[in-house]
Amino acid sequence: MKRELALEVVRVTEGAALAAASWLGRGDKISADGAATNAMRKIFDSVNMQGKVVIGEGEMDEAPMLYIGEELGTGNGPQVDIAVDPIEGTNIVAKGYSNAITVLAIADQGTLLHAPDMYMEKLAVGPAAAGKVNINDSIEKTIDIVAEANKKRVQDLTIMILERDRHQDLINRIRAKGARVKLFSDNDISAAIATALPDTGVDLFVGSGGAPEGVIAAAGLKCLGGELQGRLLPENDDEILRCKQMGIDNPDKVLMLNDLVSGDDAIFAATGVTSGDILKEVRYLGDNLVETDSIVMRAKTKTIRFIKTIHHLEHKPYVQQEN
Ligand code: FBP
Repeated sequence: MKRELALEVVRVTEGAALAAASWLGRGDKISADGAATNAMRKIFDSVNMQGKVVIGEGEMDEAPMLYIGEELGTGNGPQVDIAVDPIEGTNIVAKGYSNAITVLAIADQGTLLHAPDMYMEKLAVGPAAAGKVNINDSIEKTIDIVAEANKKRVQDLTIMILERDRHQDLINRIRAKGARVKLFSDNDISAAIATALPDTGVDLFVGSGGAPEGVIAAAGLKCLGGELQGRLLPENDDEILRCKQMGIDNPDKVLMLNDLVSGDDAIFAATGVTSGDILKEVRYLGDNLVETDSIVMRAKTKTIRFIKTIHHLEHKPYVQQEN
């Protein structure tokens, strides 16, 4: 992949964030997601690549755009797999809560796992603990390993978990072990990425969430030198069949970072819609000016860019302009 692609695709997440932000707190997650998807789709048209969506808004017959298999880009440039989540945290945007982003990952063709839309058990850590943890270990053992790797006392660790009933036992065990628990309502991609960014103070992310989000987060962690391990959690015969169709005969198989993102290069880009652990929100500055914060990273070079951009709304036709 060419390095310029990193700067090109951040325009895509920025545009989606501008579109999503205009729906903040309006109680309409469908319209928010639709606006972000539409913006992403339009801006992708101008990116020099031959891209194919492998993780998107659904199957071809379910989603009008950014569906799995859709070809994106100008048709020139590198052949790449694309994984998108136009809004990670649609409920957050609808309610005006914290911690929503727009996000995508790009990698050489054939290197992103075509994760089916089902749950995945996940464990993510930053560079110091990468290579030392194992999703099959007990949470208590994992906490000890991460504490030693990150040179912290157990009581100083911050462990992120999606606030769901299904995680209550895990939460209880982490509390009993003495570590600090940071619950969040949605967006486990940011939680996984936060483990590998030093200034977040986050040490570990555990719990189950969407498998597609797991692949996108894995691309980000590959750029950061962290690690994500996953295990698909098919809930019925249909989902077991979908695992088999992807070439995963044993759904219990632990998917390591290289199973999720198999090449040595990947690009991860995200823009904040509302403020969270890694990015600040879209800010309306007056005079039709809007400011965004993004992160864009590349696995091959491990370059991490934080980009603050000022946009003129009159030049953004895909953003809702009138009430
Ligand atoms: P959406 O914004 O696409 O709805 O996803 C948000 C999210 O919180 C993901 O980050 C997470 O992986 C998944 O939903 C968890 O699913 P559930 O809400 O069913 O527990």
